[in-house]
Amino acid sequence: MSIRYIEETKHLILETKNSGYHMKIDHLGYLQHMYYGPKPGQDNLSYAFRYYDRGFSGNPYDMRYDRTYSLDSMPQEYTSFGVGDFRVNSIAASCSDGSRCAEFKYVSHEIVNGKYSIPGLPSVYDDEGKAQTLIVTLIDNAANMGIKLYYGVFEDLDIITRSAEIINAGSEMVWLRKASSMCLDLPYGNWDLIHFHGRHCMERQVERINMFHGVHTFISGRGMSSHQQNPFIIICDHDATEDSGICYGMMLMYSGNHKTEVERDQFESVRVVMGLNDDRFRWELEPGTSLHTPEVILTCADGLTELSHNYHRCIRNNVVKGKYKLSHRPVLVNNWEATYFDFTEEKLLEICGIAKDLGIEMFVLDDGWFRNRKDDNGGLGDWVVDTDKLPEGLGGLISKVKGMGLKFGLWIEPEMISEDSDLYKAHPEWALTAPGRAPMMARNQLVLDLSNDEVHEYLYDTISGLLRDYDIDYIKWDFNRPISDVYSHSTPSARQGEVPHRYYLSLYKLYDRLTTEFPDVLFEGCAGGGGRFDAGMLQYSPQVWCSDNTDPVARLAIQYGTSFGYPSSSMGAHVSASPNHQTGRKTPLSTRGISAMAGTFGYELDLTKLTVEECGEIRNQIKRYKDIEPVVHGGRLYRLSDPAANSRYYCWEHVSQDRSRCILSVVVTDPQANYTLVHVKLKGLDPDAMYSVGGEFECRGRTLMQNGYTFPQLTGDYPAQQLDIIRI
Ligand code: GLA
Repeated sequence: MSIRYIEETKHLILETKNSGYHMKIDHLGYLQHMYYGPKPGQDNLSYAFRYYDRGFSGNPYDMRYDRTYSLDSMPQEYTSFGVGDFRVNSIAASCSDGSRCAEFKYVSHEIVNGKYSIPGLPSVYDDEGKAQTLIVTLIDNAANMGIKLYYGVFEDLDIITRSAEIINAGSEMVWLRKASSMCLDLPYGNWDLIHFHGRHCMERQVERINMFHGVHTFISGRGMSSHQQNPFIIICDHDATEDSGICYGMMLMYSGNHKTEVERDQFESVRVVMGLNDDRFRWELEPGTSLHTPEVILTCADGLTELSHNYHRCIRNNVVKGKYKLSHRPVLVNNWEATYFDFTEEKLLEICGIAKDLGIEMFVLDDGWFRNRKDDNGGLGDWVVDTDKLPEGLGGLISKVKGMGLKFGLWIEPEMISEDSDLYKAHPEWALTAPGRAPMMARNQLVLDLSNDEVHEYLYDTISGLLRDYDIDYIKWDFNRPISDVYSHSTPSARQGEVPHRYYLSLYKLYDRLTTEFPDVLFEGCAGGGGRFDAGMLQYSPQVWCSDNTDPVARLAIQYGTSFGYPSSSMGAHVSASPNHQTGRKTPLSTRGISAMAGTFGYELDLTKLTVEECGEIRNQIKRYKDIEPVVHGGRLYRLSDPAANSRYYCWEHVSQDRSRCILSVVVTDPQANYTLVHVKLKGLDPDAMYSVGGEFECRGRTLMQNGYTFPQLTGDYPAQQLDIIRI
């Protein structure tokens, strides 16, 4: 049993293989948070929290003669609001009488087998019947509001999920102003905070800070999970390393506007509140209705590596759905960086011919295949093929591509609309634009109002029509601008604050319908590169284009940051041309190959311009990738270098689950003359087994882990090496 209720002490205990999560219903009915961390070895942890007079913190009415009891200092599972907990709150609302406070107290709980799901939202699933769910119901009698706190416990995965359902149990309207998914209080400790910030072409950069007093806020209000701030943070011991120290991960499974607040308060206690972004949020909660919040995936691990492994395993097995979740992903060539908008059918077929010869398995036709799309100023919304470029239409091209023995993939950006499209002429009200105001343009396009059911149906018809009419194996689903001017012409004015979240409810429903109806199609998510790289998207698209930056060295930094939360099997990574189109950097083909082999592998360059030698090298790369893919996608990733500590090289290992094979990769970013060689201590090997190291010598696993491995001298521009370490 991973969930227990102890009647005498009113403790609720969640247990995974290595962690414990304890809460208690106290004598006043508040749901106190007691503990989250490594399994403590005893049930009753009440001793750990001391009550004492907290100065001017205030006390609930029932405790007015006992100044030691204050909501302002008590660790809680989900806060009330407006009643004396002055830290960041989990929820805010106004009631029909104008009051803006509520005090939630325990009424009941239930423990059920299996994992809850969240209506309309992606969530971690349990298809093996191993998980358990705890639902705790809290209520505020004056406001007639209820909250159901959902906890999903995946014992083997060391994962606990959380979500909240906010209920209007009364007969009057309630207006929600903030609806978080969870609150987690860490009353003691000296914590560092790691978050993943970035920009277009440089997503998920790692920043580790020691927390100051006050509130750290990490948000996206861009209508997507964003390049700028991934919905994922880690809180770890100040001394935590890759290998040890308590580390908590909190990942929001959501692709829209999000907010994480981390407050270090007056008593050094740390509170994390994570969920929907409340900026301009207002949800009309009619009597008898409820709002479900997105899921938070929590893990507690010993060291950052274990934390990442917990997420990788969970995302690979219990987030990603469909036939591609654990199977081979086709090696593809995408024509974007080869041709951009300027292509003919002849050119594409020339690329395909070479691709087939090299061993590539799929051709992906990127942007520019539809009418009015000579550049990125127009054409979005109609999705009618440009017969100037493709005289025999998509069908003609696809049958020729298939005739060559390649799979076929297609790029679309369905959520967008150009002003010069037929769709916009017919339905200007389908774009998100505020009345009487010229909208902000980005890439000269607007965003469709997916919260409108008609738009949803139109998109379903368009995409399912493409998938029905053509033999398409893969869709690259792009989203190339942030959402601004958020105003839905199909929504009453009082409900405009619901539009950003309703947009995502509709998008998830669309993805769900399409992936259910077309189970053989592989979807790759994309948003100007990696602007929507999150666990929500990964439920439907097993891989996401990691970044528009294909420079193999810059990519190492992006893939490094991404790897803290997301598995290698989720990161779209391609070999592109040198000099690189984004940075102008020149790198060897071997380095580009090794960098891209850390994700889902492909090519994004003009194959017709390759030399005979390069063709030979690419043939070998593809064979190599197919050989190591099961280890890269299914094994464990170990980061062996930390760019914050050393900028000379990136080094990483993928080790098969049974530890029989390790793929060790290094890219030297700053080769120097007559200098210390790259020396790394391997990880994750079988200590007692003998391994063959790159076919060069034999060595015991323990020795490679304790004494390490020294790479030979690597010289030239950005040299790289990858070797096999195989158990004998
Ligand atoms: C985005 C994607 C690119 C490419 C272009 C096409 O930027 O990330 O890979 O598809 O759009 O316009």
